[in-house]
Amino acid sequence: MAEWINPNLVPKRTLYTGEEIPCLGMGTFGSDRYTPGQISGAVAGALRCGYRMFDCAAVYGNEDQIGAVFAQAFAQGVVKREELFITSKVWNDMHGRGDVLLSCARTLRDLRLDYVDAFFVHWPFPNYHAPGCDGDSRNPDSKPFSAEEFMATWRQMERLHDMGLVRHIGMSSMTIPKLEAVLPLCRIKPTVIEMELHPCFQQPELYDYMVAHGIQPIGFCPIGSPARPDRDTMPDDIADTQVPEVVAVARAHGVHPAVICLKWAVQRGQIPIPFSVHENEYVSNLQCTTTDPLAEDEMVTLTTADRNCRLIKGQVFLWAGAADWHDLWDEEGTITK
Ligand SMILES: NC(=O)c1ccc[n+]([C@@H]2O[C@H](COP(=O)([O-])OP(=O)(O)OC[C@H]3O[C@@H](n4cnc5c(N)ncnc54)[C@H](OP(=O)(O)O)[C@@H]3O)[C@@H](O)[C@H]2O)c1
Repeated sequence: MAEWINPNLVPKRTLYTGEEIPCLGMGTFGSDRYTPGQISGAVAGALRCGYRMFDCAAVYGNEDQIGAVFAQAFAQGVVKREELFITSKVWNDMHGRGDVLLSCARTLRDLRLDYVDAFFVHWPFPNYHAPGCDGDSRNPDSKPFSAEEFMATWRQMERLHDMGLVRHIGMSSMTIPKLEAVLPLCRIKPTVIEMELHPCFQQPELYDYMVAHGIQPIGFCPIGSPARPDRDTMPDDIADTQVPEVVAVARAHGVHPAVICLKWAVQRGQIPIPFSVHENEYVSNLQCTTTDPLAEDEMVTLTTADRNCRLIKGQVFLWAGAADWHDLWDEEGTITK
């Protein structure tokens, strides 16, 4: 049985609404490598050992199994619903009129909840890829980002918020140009935004932009996603757990480099959502928020680990005529309004 971590000792972040949420949550994307049963088993173990935040999504294909775990935990008194911060996301093929509401209804049914704490637009465009596709796969219907289309989706997110079905609404994989285009149009501003964040990909400009706008960044792939799907792996990718800066700090603390990635994330201010199905790993991932903080000079050392190495490049979402995956991230400064 895992050592129990008192959830009250896990530091909190305060959202612009004034609500406090845990400084670290558990991811639930099995990267096509782990079964829904393994992942929901890890969620059950994580609940018992003190996790109070879980990052779910319809496209992960396991909300049904995770919902059963939540229901059992509530029934057995392991945790109360109001003690959890549970997120989910609308997938790219459900951006159409009315579909966001339908997607949320399915998620609530599968997770067996009356509401989710945060609901995200998973990607800022409706481009779809078949489950388990390879990196060269392209969908002929894919198109570039459109602020107008995004806002049509966001209006449905705002309706879900008005209906009380989602307590916060968020975006994911945005860029500064996209945010500049849509934030002024939002009736309800996002409270949280998911973005790729790990020592080798720190995105300082986007991170600072969100903080300046009062939005809490949530960092996905916080350990550099060593088990990510093959379609998201390229030969030049750098492994965060092997860069000298991370390895040196890990040696000094006598822990796995993965743990240093998480300590760095929490102390910087983002909310990392590490994934693991292994009890020893997910226990140390939460425990590291409560003990043995990094020194200031170690934080400075880790800042120098940034290699601007984006891992989730999203190339399967490219549209006809796009040059390469950099276009998805507005690196040429182009944006369709
Ligand atoms: N919004 C989005 O578009 C988006 C995109 C990607 C991810 N996410 C979310 O972010 C979550 C995390 O991202 P991720 O799963 O890709 O990557 P990650 O959390 O950076 O990496 C997970 C992997 O790291 C290893 N690991 C975890 N803890 C460890 C420890 N203490 N020691 C050693 N190794 C450890 C495990 O590898 P092994 O399995 O080999 O043990 C695990 O599979 C996802 O589960 C998902 O919820 C969101």
